Amino acid sequence: MAAAKLQPVPTAGNEAPAPERSAEDIAGQAYFDRIIAEDSRIEPKDWMPAAYRKTLVRQISQHAHSEIIGMQPEANWITRAPSLKRKAILMAKVQDEAGHGLYLYSAAETLGTPRDVLNQQLLDGKAKYSSIFNYPARSWADMGAIGWLVDGAAIANQVPLCRASYGPYGRAMVRICKEESFHQRQGFEILLELSHGTPEQKQMAQDAVDRFYAPALMMFGPPDDDSPNSKQSMAWNIKRFSNDELRQRFVGMIVEQAKVLGLTLPDPELRFDEETGQWIHMELDWQEFKDVIAGRGPCNAQRMARRREAHEDGTWVREAARAYAEKQLKKVGAA
Ligand code: 3HC
Repeated sequence: MAAAKLQPVPTAGNEAPAPERSAEDIAGQAYFDRIIAEDSRIEPKDWMPAAYRKTLVRQISQHAHSEIIGMQPEANWITRAPSLKRKAILMAKVQDEAGHGLYLYSAAETLGTPRDVLNQQLLDGKAKYSSIFNYPARSWADMGAIGWLVDGAAIANQVPLCRASYGPYGRAMVRICKEESFHQRQGFEILLELSHGTPEQKQMAQDAVDRFYAPALMMFGPPDDDSPNSKQSMAWNIKRFSNDELRQRFVGMIVEQAKVLGLTLPDPELRFDEETGQWIHMELDWQEFKDVIAGRGPCNAQRMARRREAHEDGTWVREAARAYAEKQLKKVGAA
């Protein structure tokens, strides 16, 4: 049915007239507003504001890219894992991250942007991915610190996203969070074993925690007063908590866990505030954060070079899959 055009709304003074909106858009907006007010779910075929769609594609694709780039620091350690069991566990974890990337690209595709386009944005250096994956993994203990702190931060950030207002995103997050919980525990267990090992092993664990603590806290994004997207994303029930709220909550979680590990969090300002009942952490180096997301982190160039190389190496797989799909289509056509 062709949508009826409504008259532009008259405006006072020199303001430009508001753009014409079709009756379909007006009804769609009313439906969307009601669903958000009811804290219910928007599904792919529902009407949604263009800005809501754009925000989701941005956030979901950045998240997907993070999962894919995030495979690198750990994949580099598979051959050096200290036992067959550790190797098998690490390999499974890296494969899980690939799976998370795929669920998320699929969720983004339901919003109308094909995976090829999103992937090309990453390869062209036009898309962001999480700052954390631009730090090097120098020792075996880093596999523990990544699991405990990085996957731990990811869980703290992502559990609320299971209730994101966009259905396919929220549903993908449920499975991702379950798998991230295993990842976090395997990291904790690596550190626990090292911290109860030789003095050298304990020192290696402490060194890894010292290097990953601040970058893990930066994963939650810039401080609230410097986060341009948070307010609108929270109004749309995509994000449920602000960046600072989640960072704070995460610090509260790891303080007790660090005691069990027998390791120290490298935070001279860490203290419990009786009044708010929260742990207060140190100020983070936000200039470092900006540099890393602008491409000037310790490993940005290496991560992107490796990703481009892997994409090139996979050309024959994509070609073979395309040829197979064409053959299948012809068969269906002939039947
Ligand atoms: N690294 C890189 N970029 C970051 C960032 C980080 N840690 N934190 C924020 N940014 C970027 C934002 O993407 C945004 O850039 P853009 O406007 O150009 O897109 C800008 O900095 C401003 O930040 P905002 O706070 O306004 O942005 P958001 O409202 O999108 O909040 C977020 C940022 C909290 C990361 C949010 O996007 C989010 O919750 N995303 C989903 C979770 C996610 O992407 N996690 C990646 C972690 S890695 C992972 O999960 C892998 C696992 O295996 C460990």
